[in-house]
Amino acid sequence: MAKPVYILNGPNLNLLGTREPEIYGSDTLGDIEARLGARSGETGIVFRQSNHEGELVDWVQEASVDAAALILNAGAYTHTSVALHDALRACNAPIIEVHLSNPAAREAFREQNFVAPLAKGTIAGFGAHGYELALEAALKLIK
Ligand code: DQA
Repeated sequence: MAKPVYILNGPNLNLLGTREPEIYGSDTLGDIEARLGARSGETGIVFRQSNHEGELVDWVQEASVDAAALILNAGAYTHTSVALHDALRACNAPIIEVHLSNPAAREAFREQNFVAPLAKGTIAGFGAHGYELALEAALKLIK
């Protein structure tokens, strides 16, 4: 059976819809999951969110074996997590980084990025639509 695309979301992304909507928009993570599920065709998706670094590391390790591709919005761990960086280094699935906002256009502390060097590419600044762009890129990559 074909492997699914894993979509992993990091800390505070469970708050989408109410968290700083002027930056992150009004869609909830559930809205995003529903749209991606509808667009993934027979590939299918595994869609998860965690506020815990170690759980995200576990899921990246799982994706390395079970995913055709990995779409990752690591939230603030993007800018801090060597553990996630190391898990991504060891990941056999192609990685697409996604952010709702454009971290490069925000505070200086968001300039550090432990995910981008391991990603095929990054989609940032297009709000929730960025996830659809990332899925399109992932499906093309694995075709
Ligand atoms: C984010 C950007 C990060 O800098 C921030 O810490 C987040 C969300 C985004 O999707 O725009 O939590 O990953």
